Amino acid sequence: MSLTNFSGGLPANTSLPKVTIPALAEMKRQGKPISALTAYDYATSRLVDEAGIDMILVGDSLAMVVLGHENTLAITVDEMLHHTRAVRRAVRRALVVADMPFGSYHGSVTEGVANAVRFVKEAGAEAVKIEGGRVELVRALTEAEIPVIGHLGLTPQSIHRMGGYRVQGKSAEAISRLRNDALELAEAGAGAVVLEGVPREVAAAITAELPVPTIGIGAGPECDGQILVVHDLLNLTFAPTAKFVRRYADVGSLMREAIEHYREDVEHHAFPSDQESYHLSESMRRSLEERNQVIND
Ligand code: KIV
Repeated sequence: MSLTNFSGGLPANTSLPKVTIPALAEMKRQGKPISALTAYDYATSRLVDEAGIDMILVGDSLAMVVLGHENTLAITVDEMLHHTRAVRRAVRRALVVADMPFGSYHGSVTEGVANAVRFVKEAGAEAVKIEGGRVELVRALTEAEIPVIGHLGLTPQSIHRMGGYRVQGKSAEAISRLRNDALELAEAGAGAVVLEGVPREVAAAITAELPVPTIGIGAGPECDGQILVVHDLLNLTFAPTAKFVRRYADVGSLMREAIEHYREDVEHHAFPSDQESYHLSESMRRSLEERNQVIND
């Protein structure tokens, strides 16, 4: 048990207006970069929100960085809902976007809409993200009043089709497909498009042409916004980083040192100290000592 008061005193973040899908469009119009990060739990989401990040994605990357799966394919709708709820409870200002997991929108449009409704109704998501050029589904979600963010380029749920995680959009044909998909998604109602693992020049051209914001990850600096996986940014991944990742802190080493220090203290009886212990009242202590005395005699 921890007595840490998590839920009390949530800052209202009232100095900054709530980020919405129209607010992202306005940021693009004003040339104001959109900051986005993934988060999957209450504590991290609070830190991310209080740091002023505009958009929090409960990414299906949680399958890998939180749950230890080899790729993103195994995570279920129920698992994603569970984490989205935790994030929702923490966030006051940022736009909360939930990733639709593999299999939850790959069948019929009706099934995709029904699953998206669960993210809004049961977990408080303000938008969902889907991978690929699924124009019909984006149109149906938009008609169902569910804001949707597209995700093109290196789409991790297509790992088996792509034959691994590879930069996409390198040939003339692939570039033209990417551009058309982005334009069609925007036309169908997507509020933004994540561009992952595409050459800088391609992302820049799409960003210039698209009426809605692009959010890049491994797509160069010309995108309207940037997103990273928070575990990559903090070094909590146990693996070398991809080229596009910048590590802003080594939280992994900090945690390792703190945990090793704790173990040593326990092993050497240095934790807990007397100050970290609860005490009886003086009279109760004396009567306990006297009782122990009688038992020992
Ligand atoms: O799940 C994820 O982390 C993503 C990235 C685009 C950040 O989809």
